[in-house]
Amino acid sequence: MAQKFAIVTGASRGIGLAVAHYLASKNYNLILISRSSVNLIAAKHEIVHNYPDIDIHEYAFDISDVCKVAKFIKNITMGLKIDVLFNNAGVLHEGTVFIKTSDLQNLMNVNLIASYEIAKTVAEIMMKEKSGYIFNCASMSGVRALENLGGYAASKFGVIGYSQAMEKELSKYGVKVSAICPAVVNTDMTKNNTLKQKLPTDDIVLTIDYLLNISKYAKVSTISIENIDHVI
Ligand SMILES: NC(=O)c1ccc[n+]([C@@H]2O[C@H](COP(=O)([O-])OP(=O)(O)OC[C@H]3O[C@@H](n4cnc5c(N)ncnc54)[C@H](OP(=O)(O)O)[C@@H]3O)[C@@H](O)[C@H]2O)c1
Repeated sequence: MAQKFAIVTGASRGIGLAVAHYLASKNYNLILISRSSVNLIAAKHEIVHNYPDIDIHEYAFDISDVCKVAKFIKNITMGLKIDVLFNNAGVLHEGTVFIKTSDLQNLMNVNLIASYEIAKTVAEIMMKEKSGYIFNCASMSGVRALENLGGYAASKFGVIGYSQAMEKELSKYGVKVSAICPAVVNTDMTKNNTLKQKLPTDDIVLTIDYLLNISKYAKVSTISIENIDHVI
């Protein structure tokens, strides 16, 4: 049985599922979180099929319930040493001036507040262990905002902000923090985007592999993965 533990949020599909497969291939036991238990169980079966020696715990939990997120993470990690957090669950709603307040609220709850609550809860565990790596999935929209994505950009600028502060605070404990900023990746989230050359989720996997394998003396606070034919 593998001894290392990784948490992946938004593990049922897209980038999270690809990174969960990668971490299983590197012998991490997995804690998988997403909203829908149907999607999550399908994801678990897919991973178990390829990596039968990995211990997988799956939890269907809606992280938009932001006041309950920290307690939920504390309960499911009780007594565990967490080596990696891939803090990735997210939503996209369009709109800047004409964004509905309910959509803006959901963007902030899921992409920023829940993500922050999860990162800080896991950070406490890692600080005690004096090791670990937290990846917060931001976006190129958190670096440079696009037209009609003002609400989404606001949430992702926030992710980069708290990640940079955490990276500075946690490095003295031997804990690394990186904000991952992809542009357009080929997942359900971008199914209405007509860009021809979307990034494969494998490009995000390769980025995580690179970050996990650079020496303990190197740190990467924010990393951008852009499309060759699309300027953000
Ligand atoms: N795709 C892109 O081009 C792109 C670019 C830059 C950044 N990102 C960011 O990368 C992350 C993953 O994106 P993706 O493209 O892989 O998205 P996706 O295919 O739409 O998958 C989203 C994942 O997040 C989970 N999720 C959404 N809302 C949730 C909630 N309230 N509680 C728990 N889980 C929730 C979903 O779970 P269910 O299956 O249960 O719904 C799913 O597992 C997001 O943070 C996104 O903003 C994506």
